[in-house]
Amino acid sequence: MSLAINGGAPVRTKPFPVWPVWGDEEIENLTRVIKSGKWGRLAGKETETFENQFAAAHDARHGIAMNSGTTALRIALTAADIDVGDEVIVPAYTFIATASAVVEAGAIPVFVDIDPDTYNIDPQAIEAAVTPRTRAIMPVHFAGRPANMDALQKIAQKHDLIIIEDAAQAWGASWKNRPVGAIGAAGCFSFQSSKNVNCGEGGIILTNDDTIAKFARSHHNCGRSEDGLWYEHFYFGGNYRITELQSAVLLAQYDRYEELKAIRQENFALLSELLGDIDGIMPLPLEKNVTSHACHLFIFRYQKEHFAGISKTKFIEALRKEGIPTSPGYSIPLYKQPVFLNKSFGPRGKKIEMDIDYSVDFCPESEKACYEEAIWFTQNILLGSEEDMHDIVAAIEKVQREAPSVVSR
Ligand SMILES: Cc1ncc(COP(=O)(O)O)c(C=O)c1O
Repeated sequence: MSLAINGGAPVRTKPFPVWPVWGDEEIENLTRVIKSGKWGRLAGKETETFENQFAAAHDARHGIAMNSGTTALRIALTAADIDVGDEVIVPAYTFIATASAVVEAGAIPVFVDIDPDTYNIDPQAIEAAVTPRTRAIMPVHFAGRPANMDALQKIAQKHDLIIIEDAAQAWGASWKNRPVGAIGAAGCFSFQSSKNVNCGEGGIILTNDDTIAKFARSHHNCGRSEDGLWYEHFYFGGNYRITELQSAVLLAQYDRYEELKAIRQENFALLSELLGDIDGIMPLPLEKNVTSHACHLFIFRYQKEHFAGISKTKFIEALRKEGIPTSPGYSIPLYKQPVFLNKSFGPRGKKIEMDIDYSVDFCPESEKACYEEAIWFTQNILLGSEEDMHDIVAAIEKVQREAPSVVSR
């Protein structure tokens, strides 16, 4: 059967589930808030209720919700006393916010490579990057898979470093049965629209540290204190508050989270098993310490030598034509992004002199992931049926069988 990219019939034309999933609960919650007239977080109770619920589910004493995951990272760094000129170690393969939050906090992101088996930060690479100026490590629980917290805590202890977890993609994920987010000094989650817990835009900081919580709460609320006057500002801060409307949606979304997570996990396991049998397709293996994977992304490594040498880009195009929405993921390691290469951190892209040269960085595994190997399926695909998963497998097998017929590889 000829490939759809060559004009043949596609494996499927049926769409995969769309995101977000929502129902009467979101509408009822929103209606309640609108009718109450209490639309801002300082007036109502929705945000506080969500903060308490989310923090408790992650074994954290404090939850401070705000307007985005990026804001949460930036504020968590400052609240954890990361200062101007401090170095913060981050993975090179992640969303820009992991590193831009560090720059916004006045600190210096130092990029290190990922482990190709997990696509999480490589603990050995961290050891090599520690300098006397290093103050923190910011691991990302990438795709919803917890980073190796044992190894990270060991390194942090040895060098007296703070861990701020970028848990933007990892709601309810756990490492050795411990929920991520408050294992380190603080952790930050995102509720942006593509995320498994979604209110359009939003984020939260979790922490068990009372001082971090106090400064984070103040920073996101114009430097106020809980018992100060409305126009009394003790610290530097801004307005990064979330609205009651967003929190009302979050409460409804979070109620349906566990049920959807179970479906994603089931399909994740099935797809891992089925794709693992195809030469040249390597789903990232699950290590036993990952006791719960949040399944924000399903990732496999693609090896073109098993597909007649067709490039990652062409393979994705072929799969999409077969009716399988496939993503190349991040296309450039962060240190190669123009903003870092040129240190364009000032107004209108003005170069800011910093004692670091990103042009000398080279993280081979991150480069391989971006340019050659990493292929993603987004979380909505994992909400499909068992038959949908079999269609994915059938499409990949078809592309493999017919790969020699693909011209301009
Ligand atoms: C790893 C990672 N960190 C941080 C963020 C930032 O979250 P937000 O988009 O809510 O600002 C995201 C969101 O895309 C992310 O994927």
